[in-house]
Amino acid sequence: MDKSGLLAKIAKAIEKCGVCKENKSGKAVVGEGSADAKVIFIGEAPGRKEAATGRPFVGRSGQLLRSLIREAGLKEEDVYITSPVKYSPDSGTPTVKDIEHGKIHLQKQLDIIAPKIIVLLGRVATLGVLGEMIAINKMHGVIIDKDDKKYFITFHPAAALRFPPLKEKLIEDFKKLKKLLET
Ligand code: URA
Repeated sequence: MDKSGLLAKIAKAIEKCGVCKENKSGKAVVGEGSADAKVIFIGEAPGRKEAATGRPFVGRSGQLLRSLIREAGLKEEDVYITSPVKYSPDSGTPTVKDIEHGKIHLQKQLDIIAPKIIVLLGRVATLGVLGEMIAINKMHGVIIDKDDKKYFITFHPAAALRFPPLKEKLIEDFKKLKKLLET
């Protein structure tokens, strides 16, 4: 089976997964983009717009993320965009249990896509992928090599929209990402 077929198989498993749906609503938001993506962007959890459409990052923070992706010289259809948690939490915020469970599906997606750079957008993404709560403020904007993989940590676009100084840091980080992708 090719990479797209394997990703479709995981999407089906997510749609059937009862644990993923606990205390959450709306459509499954499994992720979208290229199965051969060199760069993957990982967020937090779908919001209301994502739950209504089944597509990741289509609300306000999604517009910011998608414009930064384009400014970094990437095409949306060439990258992959997803989140550790695949359904919209009723409380608005995913629990640690949600994030730990989401890892099972997310790790399979990462193994299939095998991107060159994994961009972690905020604390939920770092917990969901690296298994650690990382101080984003201290660790953002650089490549972190771990277990033969390259991670790039930056702020979640929703945080950047809430706190304008973080937006500037997020924009700077994407400029660095652009340079890293050119080398
Ligand atoms: N925020 C996320 O982290 N993921 C989405 O899909 C939408 C908003």
